[in-house]
Formats: sequence, C-alpha cells, structure tokens
Amino acid sequence: MLKKGLFITFEGCDGCGKTTQLELLAKYLQDKGYDVIVTREPGAKGLGEKLREILLNYDGEVSSNCESFLFLADRAQHIDTIIKPAIENGKIVLCDRHIDSTAAYQGYGRGLDLARINYLNELATSGVKPDLTLLFDVDTETSMQRVGKNKDRMESAGIEFQEKVRKGYLELAKNEPQRIKIFDSRKTIEQLHQEVLAIVAAIL
Ligand code: TYD
Repeated sequence: MLKKGLFITFEGCDGCGKTTQLELLAKYLQDKGYDVIVTREPGAKGLGEKLREILLNYDGEVSSNCESFLFLADRAQHIDTIIKPAIENGKIVLCDRHIDSTAAYQGYGRGLDLARINYLNELATSGVKPDLTLLFDVDTETSMQRVGKNKDRMESAGIEFQEKVRKGYLELAKNEPQRIKIFDSRKTIEQLHQEVLAIVAAIL
C-alpha cells in the first residue's frame, strides 16, 4: 500500500503505557489494510532474544559501557535483519524502543557521553532513522507503581535513575520536536489512542 515503508518508534520510561498504544495502533493500521510489523528492542526474533536475556536478567556486574554496546549490538542486528528489509518492502514498522532509549537510559541515566552515544547509534543503524517517535511521558512515581515488585535489571536501577531518564527523554524531544511527539500518559488509553491516530494520519 505504501511505496516506501514507514518507521515509527515508541519511547518512554518503564510503565508509561507505550506498548498498549503500539498494539492499538498496529490493530488500527492492519484493519485499514496496511502491512504492519510489530517489533521491539532489546530482543527481536533470533539473536536479539539471547541479548535481551543478558541485558535484562544477568545478575552479575555489567559496566555501563558494556551495557550500551550490548543494546547497540542488538540494534545493529535488528536494523540489518528485520527493520531495514521491512521498510524497503513498503511495510510500516512499529518498534517498541529504539535509539532514544539508549540516549535516555545510557546517556542521561547512566551518564555516558551523549555525543558518543549518538555516533554509536548512527553506526548501529547505518543511518536509518525513525520517521516518527511517540514519547509517552509519565511521572516517576506512577511509572514505578505500574512496574510493581517484579523488576528486571534496568527497572531495579532506582528512582533517581528513572528521574534522570524521564528528564532525558523530555530533553531529547525538545531538541527534535519534528520527529519526537510527547503524549501525557495520565490521559486515558482511548484519549491517547486518538491523539496518536491524529499524529500518524498526518504522515501516512
Ligand atoms: P522491557 O521489558 O522491554 O521494558 P518496557 O516494557 O518498559 O519497554 O525492557 C527494556 C529495558 O531496557 C527498559 O528498562 C529500557 C532498557 N533499555 C535501555 O536501557 N537502553 C536501550 O537502548 C534499550 C533499547 C532499552
């Protein structure tokens, strides 16, 4: 249906509701007859699943530098084997987390140099960039309540870390207002879905 595919990413702190919105948008677009691929980082099919297991469940020491390279390795594999071919085949790719997660979590959260992360992101993606990024903003307290007690390695990094990640995301959106659109996660699922549709309709 589309000559050239479309690449839309979903971002936000843990528990921000982005996955629900991704699923609603996927269903809406599929019902309209679009060819949609739903995928995620870390951990798309194949090797990505193994990397996800390490990134989220390894309980030994992981340096921040190593952590960022593992996310980037996952991203390179994901772009090369799934995202790029899908876009080239005219599909709409909906991806749960992508480059901005590394900037927000490893850059703003862990304190790694942002310019370096941007450069590494560019290497990992071979320059493929999202056409649109939907950022779901939620306050840290709500975010942590939604995550609950069963936290993975990243979710266990603490409130202060999550605060930095949230601020980082807002900063990223301020720097790239054309690509990154902010949604207020306090709204209802239906309200958010309607807002997402309005933004996506503009680029279809
Ligand atoms: P996931 O279970 O997919 O969380 P969510 O449902 O909130 O998306 O876990 C992904 C975790 O990995 C999440 O805490 C964010 C983190 N992450 C990074 O720190 N850097 C990255 O580059 C990516 C892609 C994810």
